Amino acid sequence: MIQIDRSKPVLVTGATGYVAGWLVKQLLEAGFTVHAAVRNPDNTQKLEHLNAIAAAAPGKILYFKSDLLMPGSYAKAMEGCELIFHTASPFTSNFKDAQKELIDPAVLGTKNVLDQANKTPSVKRIVLTSSCAAIYTDAADLEQTPNGVFTEDVWNTSASLDYQPYSYSKTLAEKEAWKMSEQQSQWDLVVVNPSFVMGPFLNSETGTSESLALLKQLGDGTMKMGAPNLGIGVVDVRDLAEAHFKAGFTPEAKGRHIISGHNSSFLELAQILHEQYGDKYPVPKTALPKWLLMLVGPMVNKALSRNFIRKNVNLPWKADNTKSVDSLGLYYRPLKETMVDSFQSLIDSKAI
Ligand SMILES: NC(=O)c1ccc[n+]([C@@H]2O[C@H](COP(=O)([O-])OP(=O)(O)OC[C@H]3O[C@@H](n4cnc5c(N)ncnc54)[C@H](OP(=O)(O)O)[C@@H]3O)[C@@H](O)[C@H]2O)c1
Repeated sequence: MIQIDRSKPVLVTGATGYVAGWLVKQLLEAGFTVHAAVRNPDNTQKLEHLNAIAAAAPGKILYFKSDLLMPGSYAKAMEGCELIFHTASPFTSNFKDAQKELIDPAVLGTKNVLDQANKTPSVKRIVLTSSCAAIYTDAADLEQTPNGVFTEDVWNTSASLDYQPYSYSKTLAEKEAWKMSEQQSQWDLVVVNPSFVMGPFLNSETGTSESLALLKQLGDGTMKMGAPNLGIGVVDVRDLAEAHFKAGFTPEAKGRHIISGHNSSFLELAQILHEQYGDKYPVPKTALPKWLLMLVGPMVNKALSRNFIRKNVNLPWKADNTKSVDSLGLYYRPLKETMVDSFQSLIDSKAI
């Protein structure tokens, strides 16, 4: 059982990210000194939201220049830290070379961060932000599960460099982390596996997350003809920050944790927004027929290939989040609150 000394600094990799932003906020508000590892500390625009949070919080933020692809670049950031939150990893469908832009940063990045932990005697626990993408690729994968539900025992076996490489990157990275964890006894590894993250954006002007890109597409008219009825799980970014926090500070936390509040669909997300905002924004209210999606999907988003549509559209998605509730004590807020707060944050920041 690992007890973390709360007076020590805590490292968050990828601190500029959507998910990390809310975690950094929670840590600063709880009075921690956060070592924020970012690629470019001189890009002040990307740090504005974190600086504003820090200015109003009892905690302190210190920036360190680190890159997933540069071995040794996390050394300074990790110094004196007992707890590491490794969130950095690209989540985008906007890539040209999946190996270079997704797989390498995810896998070599995880290796670099964990290698550095092996060289940093203060480190006691690493919380890795994996994903439900390391559990499944397609909603159709549910059929292969023992009880028709995704659990922590299930691993993604269907993603590859050519098919849903983001899911492949998360699967390989999490496997690498477990392998490295088993080879040492200095620190323990606790993994969070979030489903699709929604919730307010702290950084909608500079954000790179696919969550932001997809929500924008729901609100900017890209999908006004209809939304794909894709089975997905959804979790609020604020609940996910709490999950990371609990994973870090619960001494007996162990293993993987599915962090997913709702078994839902992309269509349901659109319908919630339409109910709330009516026709004020071109939010889709109906499902785009599968045949039409087959035609236009690949043009709208690279991830919407015909193979993907076949294995996901009009299929349910179901995950068991019991472990997160029982062992981390998580509470998941209602889906409507998540979606309305997400969309409102884009409206307020004039991102749509
Ligand atoms: N959003 C979701 O639905 C979701 C679901 C499950 C899991 N996750 C996981 O959550 C984590 C954060 O995702 P997010 O949605 O918050 O995306 P995001 O906002 O795009 O954050 C990604 C972070 O990774 C950093 N990064 C990317 N390449 C890097 C590199 N070569 N060196 C150092 N840092 C690098 C980015 O830094 P820069 O600012 O410098 O680009 C950014 O801080 C990822 O591990 C993702 O797989 C996300």
